[in-house]
Amino acid sequence: MSKDQLIEVAKQNLAHAQAGTIQQTPDFLKVPAEHYYATERWQAEMDKIFKRVPLLLATTAEMPNPGDYKAMDAAGTPVLLSRTPSGEVQAFFNMCSHRGAQIMPEGVGNTHRFTCPYHAWTYNLQGDLTAIYANKDFGDLDKTCHSLTPLPCLERAGLIWVTLNQNSTLPIETFLSGYDALLAHFNFEGWHHFASQTVEGPNWKIAYDGYMDLYHLPILHKDTFGPDYPNRANYYNWGPHQRVAGPDPRLAEYQDHAPEDWPIGPLMAGVWTIFPHISIASFEGGGRSVMLSQLFPGTTPGTSITTQHYLMENTPDEAAAAAAKEQFKFLKYVVQEEDYATGLKQQKALESGGKSHVIFGKNEGGGHHFHAWVDLLLNTKDDDLAKVFEQYRSTHFGLTTGD
Ligand code: FES
Ligand SMILES: [Fe+2]
Repeated sequence: MSKDQLIEVAKQNLAHAQAGTIQQTPDFLKVPAEHYYATERWQAEMDKIFKRVPLLLATTAEMPNPGDYKAMDAAGTPVLLSRTPSGEVQAFFNMCSHRGAQIMPEGVGNTHRFTCPYHAWTYNLQGDLTAIYANKDFGDLDKTCHSLTPLPCLERAGLIWVTLNQNSTLPIETFLSGYDALLAHFNFEGWHHFASQTVEGPNWKIAYDGYMDLYHLPILHKDTFGPDYPNRANYYNWGPHQRVAGPDPRLAEYQDHAPEDWPIGPLMAGVWTIFPHISIASFEGGGRSVMLSQLFPGTTPGTSITTQHYLMENTPDEAAAAAAKEQFKFLKYVVQEEDYATGLKQQKALESGGKSHVIFGKNEGGGHHFHAWVDLLLNTKDDDLAKVFEQYRSTHFGLTTGD
């Protein structure tokens, strides 16, 4: 079923390639410059987006086995993810029930139990408090009432989402809008996590705009990979999540194939964004690999931090590992020295007040849709969140009046 959707997208891309067209929005979009730097706006985005919608915090490949865990800071919230003995993933605040210390240091590992570094209270992988150090001295406390505080969590398509609101009424499935069925075609469950690295950048929306933008490739990236890539894009969405794919004439090779004979590589080409903060760019050669970029706002409106994860379909041999290491180094260079270096200067320029607005063109439909969803969520009450995701599951805001 979802493969049919991939083929439909490929056919639309091919039709655009053969006609020499791309999707265009009917109008330009003007976004107020202050949306990229005003503190009040930024705080609203933190509260109403990052603290309310599910965030992709980990991949299955990072924690595939029972006892595997990952501790991390997610938009200012310390989170602990754990794979239990039965194989399911659970998420908790990384916070001790005694006096609130962070239990595990940031990073991934494997363990039988979580022991707090402050006074050695101990929890099992399911978050139950199993031991209080010097229990007699401390006093009799009902351990069953002092488990780690759980957070909503869902593992799908080899990816793990967590909502940073323990009382969320938005089912993670509803938020995914069917996009997970498409992402499942990567088969990430069996992939290998090769390495991770971080890059500091500008305001999270300046950074994220760039992931949906192919328009800049031959210009900003003229000295690296840009000249090899087309700069035209079509946008396909499932709720707020968007796949960015260029009109590729090479798809003609498969147009008469039966659905089962379409190879998965060209069907998954392009950039897969997952609202509000993930981009997955795929590569071919020696097996498939992707760079999954996980973007979080920093501690101020003008900063962000991106963790890049390099995932490989096959566990690499020595030669493949050396090539992957080089490619990953190159990708960091491109993002740090080209995208984010430009973004940090753009941030300063926007803050200078020289322009009241920025403009997204008719060829930048990804930005139209993304900013519409940001605005929509800022204006949605907690109780209406699920309804909004159901209502706009198939709407592309930039393209609603024609493509
Ligand atoms: S704060 Fe964790 S054991 Fe005291
Ligand atoms: Fe770029």
